[in-house]
Amino acid sequence: MAGDAALFVRRFVQHPWQVGAVAPSSTTLARQVIAPVPRTGDPVVVELGPGTGSFTAAIQRRLDGRGYHLAVEIDEEFAAVVRRRHPGVDVVVDDAARLPELLAARGIAAADVVVSGLPWAALSPPRAAGVLSAVASAMSADGAFTTFAYVHALWTPPARRLRRTLGCTFEEVVPGRTVWANLPAALVYHARRPQRVTTVARPA
Ligand SMILES: C[S@@+](CC[C@H](N)C(=O)[O-])C[C@H]1O[C@@H](n2cnc3c(N)ncnc32)[C@H](O)[C@@H]1O
Repeated sequence: MAGDAALFVRRFVQHPWQVGAVAPSSTTLARQVIAPVPRTGDPVVVELGPGTGSFTAAIQRRLDGRGYHLAVEIDEEFAAVVRRRHPGVDVVVDDAARLPELLAARGIAAADVVVSGLPWAALSPPRAAGVLSAVASAMSADGAFTTFAYVHALWTPPARRLRRTLGCTFEEVVPGRTVWANLPAALVYHARRPQRVTTVARPA
């Protein structure tokens, strides 16, 4: 949507390190990112950094009224957009690092699936490791986590650090194929089974 693109650019100019992208993710990338959301049952699905809701819409379509969908967005303006468009989603303006407290406050023991749109490359190494560790501690033992990285930046220290930190945090991490139908091209990391104890990856 043109309005979403304009809002994204404006928020990026105002808070580049927080938004971390100049455009919302494509529907093709969204399909890959939300792949672990189960097609049956009542899963607890958490979305981190929904922005204007590219992944939110895909998750809501997949859930079709089942389960529980919590979206944690630090930017009030993005949160207001998602809340207005998706009344079935519990949208909270907060820091993803507080996921354990946010779930506890709702009487929820653990998330089955966590889908992340967070701008990892824009976070300092301790901050990124801290957020990931907090998220992992809020997941069920066989929980699934997905996040994405831009392909042109995979060689950079923040991207390599993310890959290593994911490896320290989850028992299994599988990179997906390059999604060319996204600006810029991206790939999705599919992680499973949080290990609970995170080691902060050292710079390459
Ligand atoms: C790269 S954008 C992705 C937006 C959307 N998921 C997409 O793919 O189009 C990053 C989003 O994460 C949000 N964000 C950044 N840091 C956050 C934090 N600590 N907690 C929650 N949301 C955060 C930003 O406000 C922004 O909406």
